[in-house]
Amino acid sequence: MIGRLNHVAIAVRDLAAASARYRDTLGAHVTAPQALPEHGVTVVFIELPNTKIELLEPLGDASPIARFLDKNPDGGIHHICYEVEDILAARDRMLAAGARVLGDGQPKIGAHGKPVLFLHPKDFCGTLTELEQV
Ligand code: CO
Repeated sequence: MIGRLNHVAIAVRDLAAASARYRDTLGAHVTAPQALPEHGVTVVFIELPNTKIELLEPLGDASPIARFLDKNPDGGIHHICYEVEDILAARDRMLAAGARVLGDGQPKIGAHGKPVLFLHPKDFCGTLTELEQV
């Protein structure tokens, strides 16, 4: 059912420093920062030939990645995102298989303007997993 790897998201404390590291050291193309208050993050995308890396910096007091950074002070891989053709069909398949969908189970519009869902890390090898309809 899952398709391409859409992105790997890395939580960082300092988005400007992380962007500079990717740009200047790895020679990557880094997009301009984009604030997403409804998700509690500011993001940049590292555009690679075959996928994207998303750098996430906490935005606001209730950022969902603040606690992750408390546990991982140097930052770290926060989630991976796979593409699906039909997010509602994917959700129903996950629920039927006993996997937990986070939140109220309704897709939200993600950083790319497309519907996304998150799956519980305990059900997917300790990795927070995002599904995005493309
Ligand atoms: Co994501």
